[in-house]
Amino acid sequence: MERTLSIVKPDGVRKNIVGEVIGRFEKAGLQVIALKMAHLSKAEAEGFYAVHSKRPFFGSLTEFMCSGPVVLMALEGPDAIKKVRDMMGATDPAKAAQGTIRKDFADSIESNIVHGSDAPETAGFEIPYFFSALETMRR
Ligand code: CMP
Repeated sequence: MERTLSIVKPDGVRKNIVGEVIGRFEKAGLQVIALKMAHLSKAEAEGFYAVHSKRPFFGSLTEFMCSGPVVLMALEGPDAIKKVRDMMGATDPAKAAQGTIRKDFADSIESNIVHGSDAPETAGFEIPYFFSALETMRR
């Protein structure tokens, strides 16, 4: 069993595909263990993407991430990190494989609909960034 953090980004919420994205994860055998909508502040988006703080796109990425509400979720299942990343497709939708979320819905490398943790250590930072221990407790 593995856990990962996924975000339906502001473009996904604007396009009304929150249910579509979560439905794809559920159909792939992943379980939603924590879920909430939030409108991130610039500081919250900057903290989340701190590993990218030296990248040229950092300012634009964090502006975009607080341009509207997002849907945050922790997912659990076998091989959850890779499963979510395979379903999202490449960061740049122009390079994403057929049938992936970004191929089907994303407009650009920045407005790319969905985020997923890229490694267990990343998930270990990202899940508690948004959810408390109580919120992600198995009941
Ligand atoms: P995400 O999986 O959320 O992780 C970091 C994000 O930075 C990525 O998705 C993209 O939205 C964004 N990103 C990555 N590379 C670029 C780029 N070259 N230009 C703009 N945004 C980028």
